[in-house]
Amino acid sequence: MRLENGSYYVQNQRLTDLAAQFGTPLYVYDGAKITEQIAALRRAFAGINLKIKYACKALTTQGILQLMRRHGVDLDVVSPGELQMGLRAGYLGEQITFTPSGVSFDEIEAAVEAGAFVNLDNLDVLEEFGRRYGSSKPCMIRIKPNVAAGGHQKIMTAHEASKFGIDIRQREEILDVVRRYNLHVVGLHQHTGSDIKEASAFLEAAGKLFELAYEFPDLRYIDLGGGFKVGYREGDPVTDIVAFGAEMAQFFRHFCQRYGRDLELWLEPGKFLVSEAGYLLVSVSVVKPAPGRTFLGVNSGLNHLIRPMMYDAYHDIVNLSNPSPTNPETYDVVGYICETDTFAAGRTISRATKDDVLAFKNAGAYGFTMASNYNARPRPAEVLVYGNRAHLIRRRESVEDLLRNQVEVDLTIPEKSPVPAE
Ligand code: LLP
Repeated sequence: MRLENGSYYVQNQRLTDLAAQFGTPLYVYDGAKITEQIAALRRAFAGINLKIKYACKALTTQGILQLMRRHGVDLDVVSPGELQMGLRAGYLGEQITFTPSGVSFDEIEAAVEAGAFVNLDNLDVLEEFGRRYGSSKPCMIRIKPNVAAGGHQKIMTAHEASKFGIDIRQREEILDVVRRYNLHVVGLHQHTGSDIKEASAFLEAAGKLFELAYEFPDLRYIDLGGGFKVGYREGDPVTDIVAFGAEMAQFFRHFCQRYGRDLELWLEPGKFLVSEAGYLLVSVSVVKPAPGRTFLGVNSGLNHLIRPMMYDAYHDIVNLSNPSPTNPETYDVVGYICETDTFAAGRTISRATKDDVLAFKNAGAYGFTMASNYNARPRPAEVLVYGNRAHLIRRRESVEDLLRNQVEVDLTIPEKSPVPAE
């Protein structure tokens, strides 16, 4: 988003015009920012066989998946629903990796039937996979390397107490199942967590996976997951993708030499590709002065963007209707949900009045996909700006949509029928 002649734009689209045309609350995504991030990742890992597997849990709207596919990015999915989203967007099964967490075997079977790669994350499913398919289907194994890193306790996935993957110390048990069924293990996977800024955490986890990899002679892929940290505010430390890419590429090349074959390195970024590309536009419903603070109430809440309330995440807020930096004020920016949903306390932004349009930045990842219908509030519309054109990629929900799957019941008790004893 850029400020030009007193207005904020995404490509050539003025954001306040999009708010007027499509209404608020509205998610807006900048397709050019997504493609820049894809290109930046590829540049950083130049010289090795890199495959990007977008972790689509970050944002699964069809228009976004179509954009990813158009730019040669594959998918990482975690549920049958996400798998279907990928197939509907035109992906082939073989371009999709299924990385579930502790699901029943039916889900794994459905993914195998669809031709997807599966990351098996516990010894039971590994055993079941062996019984069912033996060596006839390829599989991958998700390892928990016991590396603690991530921006918040709730988004760390590779430390000792985490439920994800098979603990690397269970090496002998893994190898026992693999040998008994002669499993065709084509990949090893690990995902350390989210919002990780230190390249050292990724390198440590990769080192552990590489060391284990020598036990598996059929490997084609090493999947290092996602988790690269993006900037949420001015000057925020981020994963230095250029330095990290160069270091990891060298480490990987060295590993491939020792392993004796050129493997593909898979990465599964979610936030890195879409977080900064997304904005949630909301309107100011009320400016409410009170002793010691002024509340700015907006027509959205934790039902549309839960990250500030769930992870204490910082999202920059810009008053699109008043781009003037000369008259800032400090507000508690709050939602309309009937429980505490503070987006930001004591935040200084340019002076706001009723009906002004605000933008929450970094709303592309885990914004819409974590939205709910709490308080029977419909979810926002979504617009993708691509090639300077604004595409509506999801219509705004209506109350009718919320009622669609509800079943009307007749609760009258026929007079003659015996009433069951209390
Ligand atoms: N691969 C796997 C197996 C994952 O579980 C995840 C995210 C990713 C890749 C992508 O991670 P990313 O690059 O987006 O950090 N709702 C939280 C984030 C949860 C991440 C869950 N797993 C948030 O809004 O911060």
